[in-house]
Amino acid sequence: MGARLSFPKVQLTGKTIVVTGGNTGIGYETAKWLAMLGGHVIIACRSEERATKAIERMNEEYQTEKKHGTPDIVTLDQLDVSFLPLDCSSLKSSKEFIDLFLAKESQLHLLLFNAGIAAHEQEYTDDGYEKMFQVNYLSQFLVCIKLLPVMLASGPDCRIVLVSSYAHNFASFDVDKIQGKQYTKENFKRMVYYGNSKLYQILQMYSMNGRLSATNVTVNSIHPGAVMTELARDYRQTSMINFMYRTVAGLGWLRTPYQGATTLINAAVNPEFKDLRNVYFQDCKATNPSRQARNKQYQEQLWKYTLECLKDYVTDEDLKCLGSSPSNSNNDGKNDNE
Ligand SMILES: NC(=O)c1ccc[n+]([C@@H]2O[C@H](COP(=O)([O-])OP(=O)(O)OC[C@H]3O[C@@H](n4cnc5c(N)ncnc54)[C@H](OP(=O)(O)O)[C@@H]3O)[C@@H](O)[C@H]2O)c1
Repeated sequence: MGARLSFPKVQLTGKTIVVTGGNTGIGYETAKWLAMLGGHVIIACRSEERATKAIERMNEEYQTEKKHGTPDIVTLDQLDVSFLPLDCSSLKSSKEFIDLFLAKESQLHLLLFNAGIAAHEQEYTDDGYEKMFQVNYLSQFLVCIKLLPVMLASGPDCRIVLVSSYAHNFASFDVDKIQGKQYTKENFKRMVYYGNSKLYQILQMYSMNGRLSATNVTVNSIHPGAVMTELARDYRQTSMINFMYRTVAGLGWLRTPYQGATTLINAAVNPEFKDLRNVYFQDCKATNPSRQARNKQYQEQLWKYTLECLKDYVTDEDLKCLGSSPSNSNNDGKNDNE
């Protein structure tokens, strides 16, 4: 795989960190390691029971790491990990999460958008949106906008990382078809719509950075590699994807959740990446996302479309902390309009 599957053991004492979907898979390993480095970690999950079990398991694994003398981890009785409820398929739940967070916390240094579903069947949320669009992108965009003011006031080097996917390369951007209403349940293109949701995250990265330039908050995105997690629960419902998944697994190409977490943790804490913006990381290295992702028109079309979807939730006041016009200065100097 050629990846440097480790990360610098940066001390995170005093840092407040949110990991969405931190109860399992890549999010679980990320939350656990950031807590073992001293972070005050909040896992934002939809099931309290799963979150509580995950926190118990993190603490058991932490005790084992301490016994083994793992270097650079903090010495505490228990990890500083807690749970706040967040169901990304609901804007109401997302708003409740935001309110709970802001009532409890006064700082936020790392905001890691990891929760996601893949290759889901055609389904619409109670808010009326295609489910992968809302879970993987829209609700987390709302959380992002609402938590920005506290991040902007939390001191230097605050980072937002969006867990995207290589699958964004399979996307097909058309602002008029974002909800997939042209399909029936039978012919809905679930991999394309998964890819679309992952493309939206990278488009969001560019449009947010354009409005956050010269602030303490940076936005980057990652592909974690092909990782053996519960994400495949939806893949397995389609025989072709199931076949591909089993083939990749059979060849031993799937990463462990820990290995999958390393790119995310690097993007979140590696001092070498301080002040970097608009980077799409793969194997812990900057990589070019697709041309569609770098398309300035798409970035702005999606931005407007997203704010229209969230018009009952996002106020002009919320947008004040963002610059009014996006900067054209992407890190790679490129911004492709197809
Ligand atoms: N695994 C891979 O090969 C791979 C490759 C590329 C990108 N990714 C991305 O990596 C991220 C993490 O995936 P993973 O592989 O670790 O999968 P996972 O084990 O299935 O974890 C996904 C997490 O998202 C949470 N989630 C799902 N729906 C949610 C909702 N409505 N509200 C709140 N949380 C919700 C899950 O919670 P529950 O436990 O309650 O379901 C779980 O905590 C995803 O964004 C995925 O797209 C994964």
